[in-house]
Amino acid sequence: AEALRVGIAGLGTVGASVARVLAEKAAELTRQCGRDIIVSAVSARDASRDRGVDLSGAKWFDDPVDLACNADIDVFVELIGGEEGAARASVTAALEAGRHVVTANKALLSRHGVELAGIAEERGILLNYEAAVAGGIPVIKTMREAMAGNTVSRVFGILNGTCNYILTRMEAEGLSFEDCLKDAQRLGYAEADPTFDIEGNDTAHKLSILTSLAFGSRIAPDDIYLEGISNITQADIRAASELGYRIKLLGVAQRTETGIEQRVHPTMVPTASVIAQVHGVTNAVAIETDILGELLLSGPGAGGNATASAVIGDIADIAKSRPGFQHGPVFGRPAKELHPYVRAR
Ligand code: HSE
Repeated sequence: AEALRVGIAGLGTVGASVARVLAEKAAELTRQCGRDIIVSAVSARDASRDRGVDLSGAKWFDDPVDLACNADIDVFVELIGGEEGAARASVTAALEAGRHVVTANKALLSRHGVELAGIAEERGILLNYEAAVAGGIPVIKTMREAMAGNTVSRVFGILNGTCNYILTRMEAEGLSFEDCLKDAQRLGYAEADPTFDIEGNDTAHKLSILTSLAFGSRIAPDDIYLEGISNITQADIRAASELGYRIKLLGVAQRTETGIEQRVHPTMVPTASVIAQVHGVTNAVAIETDILGELLLSGPGAGGNATASAVIGDIADIAKSRPGFQHGPVFGRPAKELHPYVRAR
């Protein structure tokens, strides 16, 4: 079979990891997919930076929109980030040009996912976004593909690696909030603007995507009750501990009598509970359904390689699919038929 040609826009922590792993694991990927996967085009702000991978075989584009519609590629991989600007323009351009899209951009999907899904569904192409929620954990594939027939009553979890890393180290080592945040940034876990991590926006973006998948509802990030961890002190952590609890930043979406409730806030969880054992950059997603019962997925929630693993899974999925194949609706039902979101009182 012909090689799958990939164009990567954005070569930050995740983009560079994707390019590196695609090169290092090329033989393994060819064996698994039955065809080669090659990076044929890239775009980033700085062409001269050393990213630990040889990209001389890929055509360089200064403008990601140009890459999205004019490069010789089969798949456009968006790792620029941000809900507007180059990310939105290039993903829209790629879909309209009939290219499959892989994105890790939760902010973009949270704001424009329904519209983008509509274009992909209309054109019969794939819009894959495994890396947008909970880093390396395959929660999207699990919910979209493996849980058919289940009716979800609740989905909740630890969806931000930076916050969980900060809370874990504040508790275990007595460090200050600021020092832990600096380390999370240094390790490549935090968003470009870490306010999005610590104020809960990133968790809300991811939760809004899970809510849509779980309940077939429109994506409604503005209807999420939102409270971050920037006010959590050592005194709060010690008080919780004395009572037998740990503080975790949770995102929760559940069906109630009046509608679908979505909230993000620091939560006291019993120290002996499973969710309390989720430490550091690890994320966890719990899904409660009628047929399966309770499912808990946990794994690396942020960082270059873990996130790259999910991006590459999405690329491999496209490499293996036959032309014209779709997984069905991007968010569990056709974008134009998603239920209006019902806000709980
Ligand atoms: N900043 C995010 C986090 C990256 O810390 O979880 C993964 O989406």
